[in-house]
Amino acid sequence: MIVTTAQLFQHAYGKYAVGAYNINNAEQAMGLFKGCLTSQAPFIIQISKGARKYTDKRVLEAIIRAAAEIFPESIFAVHLDHGDEETCYECISSGFFSSVMIDASHSVFAENVAITKRVVDRAHAKGISVEAELGMLGGVEEDIKVEEGNACLTDPAEAEAFVKQTGCDSLACAIGTSHGAFKFKGRQSLHFDVLEKIKARLPGYPLVMHGSSSVPQEEVARINAAGGKIAGSMGVDVNEYLPAAKRGVTKVNIDTDGRLVWTRVHREYFRDHPGEFDFRPPGKIFIDEYAKFIASRNVLLGSANQLADLRKSLGK
Ligand code: G3H
Ligand code: 13P
Ligand code: ZN
Repeated sequence: MIVTTAQLFQHAYGKYAVGAYNINNAEQAMGLFKGCLTSQAPFIIQISKGARKYTDKRVLEAIIRAAAEIFPESIFAVHLDHGDEETCYECISSGFFSSVMIDASHSVFAENVAITKRVVDRAHAKGISVEAELGMLGGVEEDIKVEEGNACLTDPAEAEAFVKQTGCDSLACAIGTSHGAFKFKGRQSLHFDVLEKIKARLPGYPLVMHGSSSVPQEEVARINAAGGKIAGSMGVDVNEYLPAAKRGVTKVNIDTDGRLVWTRVHREYFRDHPGEFDFRPPGKIFIDEYAKFIASRNVLLGSANQLADLRKSLGK
């Protein structure tokens, strides 16, 4: 069942974080739905601009609609990840999205406010909620690369003013993470101090953590043992997900970790079956491995076993 992102946030706020997982294809969709059902967790499906271009945006929408029929017990929202203004408007009018993210975080404050406000006005007229971003994560997202020195944490006073001026429904804050597999050099902790200050200024308001992959080192070691060359990778400490959730982080974005599962499965499969060229056997293994990964993340986020209570509170 597709619900609004706002409904998911209302149930989760302060108790647990909803896992927001990016998908690009049918295998990821199947693994995601399976993993969320085995762990009895609500979830958010994220579609990036890159994902919409990968095959065709209509293919992804059809996959999600089909998965919702195959897994009728599931409760989820569909979200545009890192949208620009034009893509937000497209998704708002498509009638398929529960929420959109306008990412104008690379613009100066006033420009970010102006762009976000325009999107909020259009989205709210259609009952769709808007995530915006303030502050700058390091790493690569879509086609923009932020050098580590240029990344900057969200300023709590600015966050309060930004939310007031734009009316956005949730805010992605930079609290020390970055996109991709190389998040930290040395230190490995979220800036809980900044998070607490933002929460104090925006009580009850849903915050979003991008760049939340944990980059499991055993996954990376298996990839490298099967021919990969991923050196110096590091991710978020999974034991910090729940403490972040208790401090207002209601949505946790995870993409890179799923890509690592895909890479490990395929590298190992073709290493061990050098004569094989049918992609379906590793595809099937991936679906099961991804489902296991998703279920494990939902446990860490605290979203596992929340479905029954959520269903009750939705009156379904
Ligand atoms: O934050 C970016 C997401 O991981 C999506 O990545 O733009 O390569 O699909 P993508
Ligand atoms: P990761 O690269 O840490 O998976 O972050 C994904 C993300 O923030 C998607 O918006
Ligand atoms: Zn992101």
